[in-house]
Amino acid sequence: MKVSLTGIKPSGTVHIGNYLGAIVPAIEMTQRYERSLYFIADEHALTTVEDPAKLHAQIFDLAATWLACGLDPRRTLFYRQSSIPEVFELAWILGCIAPKGLLDRAHAYKAAVAAGEPINVGIYTYPVLMAADIILFDTTVVPVGRDQKQHVEIARDLAEKFNRLYGRVLVPPEPEINEEVMTIPGLDGRKMSKSYDNVIPLWAQPAERRKLVMRIKTNSQPPEEPKDPEGSEIFQLYRLFASPEQAAAMSCRYAAGIGWADAKVALAEVMEERLAPLRARYEALRADETALERTLAEGAGRARTIACATMARVRAAVGIASPA
Ligand code: ADP
Ligand code: TRP
Repeated sequence: MKVSLTGIKPSGTVHIGNYLGAIVPAIEMTQRYERSLYFIADEHALTTVEDPAKLHAQIFDLAATWLACGLDPRRTLFYRQSSIPEVFELAWILGCIAPKGLLDRAHAYKAAVAAGEPINVGIYTYPVLMAADIILFDTTVVPVGRDQKQHVEIARDLAEKFNRLYGRVLVPPEPEINEEVMTIPGLDGRKMSKSYDNVIPLWAQPAERRKLVMRIKTNSQPPEEPKDPEGSEIFQLYRLFASPEQAAAMSCRYAAGIGWADAKVALAEVMEERLAPLRARYEALRADETALERTLAEGAGRARTIACATMARVRAAVGIASPA
């Protein structure tokens, strides 16, 4: 069976880059797999978030965001990592076969060390917990951004090692990098990222979004000078939110000469057209945490049926199952 799984870390404001680069493609992908799982990696967030109120809010922000953007919790499994205790047992068992050298080589860990960040054991063993998230559900494919590819490869290495030691018990997963997804530029032209403080929040109110769009960096070409739409970040973003007809018409306006201020106003408008109905849905969902929790708990219940079956196999394989 083709099984895809995506973990989403509740680590801060969701922005346009996350929406276009991760959420939209991930939701479209559900069509291609017999089973797809989406979970909020709230326990992973604990490696960096130490403010309980903030973490709580970010978990529910994220759940409401994915549902508002079209994730169907009946056709997928949507749950919180923290609701699946089997993940943590499997993480321990995988940790017991994980060579320390493998974790020493993890890019994310090495980058945190190089940046002089405080390193807790959670950051170090992050890839083992991630391997458990994946392997527990017999996942075959893990769609990820490039920065997470190595972590999925570590999961595959651990599943293969387990199978060499204990027989063919686990399904080794493969990472899948979507090459079609473009990197969305931020206000300063660099990759939009919360670490660069250059983001347009997905759920910004129209006036705030417009103000941010007006801040996008542009060159000093005068308004009447013809402009190359392909070379313009404002046009790139416009096209991603507009219909093909709107994009074609805008391309002509660039060629004829459009002032950057007008180009930005048009971008803010087309973003609002597309996002206003989603934001209304988001606000309604976000206002009812109990309902969100119920949706996530239902997903967790279904996910645990699979998790328990995997753990029965794993326990038997390593020799800790109870006698029949
Ligand atoms: P950030 O860089 O803001 O911290 P994350 O690392 O949390 O964002 O990214 C979450 C998801 O969104 C990842 O799948 C990542 O590939 C995607 N993503 C983030 N920023 C962009 C961007 N500017 N363009 C395209 N995709 C992005
Ligand atoms: N590490 C991922 C990130 O930072 C989140 C994540 C946790 C994940 N467990 C996962 C992603 C399992 C895919 C599969 O974005």
